[in-house]
Amino acid sequence: MTGPTADGRGARPAENTGDGTRVVRAGLPEPVKYEPTLPGPVFAAHFHLPGEPTGPYTYGRDENPTWTLLERALGELEAPGRDGVETLAFASGMAAISSVLFSQLSSGDTVVLPSDGYQVFPLVRAQLEAYGIQVRTAPTGGDAQLDVLDGARLLWIESPSNPGLDVCDIRRLVEAAHARGALVAVDNTLATPLGQRPLELGADFSVASGTKQLTGHGDVLLGYVTGQAGAAMTAVRRWRKIVGAIPGPMEAWLAHRSIATLHLRVERQSATALALAEALRTRPEVSGLRYPGLPDDPAHKIASQQMRRYGCVVSFTLPTRARAERFLEELRLVDDATSFGGVRSTAERRGRWGGDAVPEGFIRLSVGAEDPEDLVADVLRALEESAR
Ligand SMILES: Cc1ncc(COP(=O)(O)O)c(C=O)c1O
Repeated sequence: MTGPTADGRGARPAENTGDGTRVVRAGLPEPVKYEPTLPGPVFAAHFHLPGEPTGPYTYGRDENPTWTLLERALGELEAPGRDGVETLAFASGMAAISSVLFSQLSSGDTVVLPSDGYQVFPLVRAQLEAYGIQVRTAPTGGDAQLDVLDGARLLWIESPSNPGLDVCDIRRLVEAAHARGALVAVDNTLATPLGQRPLELGADFSVASGTKQLTGHGDVLLGYVTGQAGAAMTAVRRWRKIVGAIPGPMEAWLAHRSIATLHLRVERQSATALALAEALRTRPEVSGLRYPGLPDDPAHKIASQQMRRYGCVVSFTLPTRARAERFLEELRLVDDATSFGGVRSTAERRGRWGGDAVPEGFIRLSVGAEDPEDLVADVLRALEESAR
């Protein structure tokens, strides 16, 4: 992916360009007269294929030109300047996660998962165990997964973790896992490739839900896996074919279009998230405040070494469930909704799902692209109102 074409008009940026420059051009084809900059979605279940059935485009469950451009864009962001990287797009983050777990593990293997990861992991764990795969868990914070690595085939990292926002030393865990012959996958959903590049930290797979900040508008479900081309990625591709958990062309195209504004959104949202976290830390009713970008956050030291931006999610705890519910009701600029990463701020009382080990008053707030002063004022007002 480097540099311009022979005539100097190349669509792809050199690897030393800034993130803003890279995202607006990521994955674009070479310019062709009268063709659009980003070709529209290709809706095709099959492609004309006389003779030998060789690719690149044969059947719509295996490949699609709209995915190809998106996958190229994601590869350029996850591993700029690196040769031989392969990216596969999926129908959702869970499809991407499952494709790695179930393609790399088989009966008798051991996998290490985070105990504080995304709340669907208990279901995943049960399914892995039903297939005869041994599952060990340890928390993200304090690099606790190090202690349970012996004999593992795969280490799964989620850093920052959702919703607790703990961070582990990815490079340290990768080195320990590789020394024991284990592969490492990192869930990069919360950070996005502009916040963190797991492959540069040594991971074998960067896996993410594109449903969140990557696409950023709360209207697309998507997932992807990036890794060095080779046997492991071939197995992931095979799994996608078997399970058929593929993105629709429209979703893939919307995702690619959204990536052009990723830098603007991530910059704005992480700056506002820090401003909000700073405002919340002065409030007496707020405890357990977490934002990896706050200099006194327990995760800040390691986050500042491996992250380039700290994300748009702030979490904190209000004294009771009732207080948290009143707070959510009082918010005017923040929707009471799950998910995170969108341009419109959202928040929820995470305990309502029952899957996370969090206090009843725990709030996960996803900072959108609103004016920072408006958003901070709305949150502080809702805190005041909810005390009445
Ligand atoms: C960290 C993390 N990973 C994966 C997922 C799953 O993504 P999707 O909802 O796109 O399947 C989520 C969803 O919230 C998540 O927060």
